[in-house]
Amino acid sequence: MAPNLKSFFQNVDDNAETFIERLRKAVAIPSISAEDERRADVVRMGMFLKGELDRLGASTEARPLGKQPGKEHLELPPAIIGRYPAKKDDSKRTILVYGHYDVQPANKSDGWETEPFKLSVDDKGRMYGRGSTDDKGPVLGWVNVIESHQKAEIDFPVNLLMCFEGMEEYGSEGLDDFIIAECKPGKYFADVDATCISDNYWLGTEKPCLTYGLRGCSYYSIQVSGPGQDLHSGVFGGTAQEPMTDLVRVMASLVDGDGNILIPGIMDDVAKVTPDEESRYKDIAFTMDNLYESLGSKTGIFPDKERTLMGRWRYPSLSLHGVEGAFSAPGAKTVIPAKVIGKFSIRTVPDMKPEKVDELVYAHVDKVFESLKSKNTMKCHLQHSGKWWVASPDHWNFTAAAKAVEDVWKVKPDLTREGGSIPVTLTFEQATGKNVLLLPMGSSTDAAHSVNEKLDRKNYIEGIKLLGAYLHYVAEEPMKE
Ligand code: BES
Ligand code: ZN
Repeated sequence: MAPNLKSFFQNVDDNAETFIERLRKAVAIPSISAEDERRADVVRMGMFLKGELDRLGASTEARPLGKQPGKEHLELPPAIIGRYPAKKDDSKRTILVYGHYDVQPANKSDGWETEPFKLSVDDKGRMYGRGSTDDKGPVLGWVNVIESHQKAEIDFPVNLLMCFEGMEEYGSEGLDDFIIAECKPGKYFADVDATCISDNYWLGTEKPCLTYGLRGCSYYSIQVSGPGQDLHSGVFGGTAQEPMTDLVRVMASLVDGDGNILIPGIMDDVAKVTPDEESRYKDIAFTMDNLYESLGSKTGIFPDKERTLMGRWRYPSLSLHGVEGAFSAPGAKTVIPAKVIGKFSIRTVPDMKPEKVDELVYAHVDKVFESLKSKNTMKCHLQHSGKWWVASPDHWNFTAAAKAVEDVWKVKPDLTREGGSIPVTLTFEQATGKNVLLLPMGSSTDAAHSVNEKLDRKNYIEGIKLLGAYLHYVAEEPMKE
């Protein structure tokens, strides 16, 4: 281990409580990008992050991203971009890191055991709170890395560029164009040598991983409307065509209970499994019990780990998310909703083309709705779309990260892909023309997006060491592509 790293690691341990306090302050800001009325909190969170970086002497900017498409009264939260050290050192590599400061919605009544926007640490060091693992812990990880370098008086190994956004959980609206523009010669991200994103999770709870693939996500809504207002089912049931009945039938035609997508043609462009790919799954540290633990049940589709991992990483999936306008409160209400909007998304994989997926979805939904011969009106539209991404894990960006993992966790990382999506990953790769690495901090049991989201204290503190060690190794790694 490099001597510098020893004193950095020591400093991270010495400042663990300060770093947990920083996470506590961040979790307390309910920066929910999907809820319009929380937009001010999202902005407040962005400014908190900027303030923390400013105090450490980074050069930062809050860049406006314009209005939210489709909601012209709403300003998008700014991209917080920064550079550390403030002045570029041309003798050092430039590493761009990305993360998001927005979070998923959360209400105590969803089933949280603690207040979602109050960091609650239990006696096992589990730190509960919305955004703890996704993605405030990792984003603050970079801030903490800077602070520990300063306090330990260690030379910062790279030119660090930062890009933190506040709309990731809503499809990263506005960010693609911003990144593309800022990667042009002379602009903010012009000289990037490699990118690192910490916004995913280990496959289990023991073994760290480096991630080289993500699925894409195309998110749709189907609106069915008819009556002018909600109706009494005793008066109008049996005499009016009901939007909810049509919608449920259309949604039921999309996917079956074993996860098979029923839209004709959707599997046509899915890359075939090669024997080489097939052989890689068996060595991955993942068991069906890991799956059951994260699921909180034994309701998996496949009995074996290989097919389960393929189902998560390399096959598309279609999930039904909810119905806006439907009666969903506890108890019984005899209402016929007049307008309902069903939401579903498709996780896409190589070599599916998002535009073709849209066409297949529209054609199928139209056909099924027509077959119902309903007098109601149906409209299907794409809410947002993010592309899948697969990189080369042989790149020096990955070999540097593997060394950092071995230093911190004393084990060689698994190389994994992921089922989730980070829409701008491919954008960074294409716009910088350089490799992108995903370097997760949290574990499979962190319950991102779910109730009782948490980050283990150990993953946070060792994760800060990991991000810092990565910067040291990536600064020195021989540049073989
Ligand atoms: N941190 C996740 C991405 C992720 C999830 C990576 C699971 C690996 C495994 C991110 O915050 C996220 O949830 N992204 C959204 C993007 C979508 C709105 C396009 C997602 O995947 O649902
Ligand atoms: Zn995330």
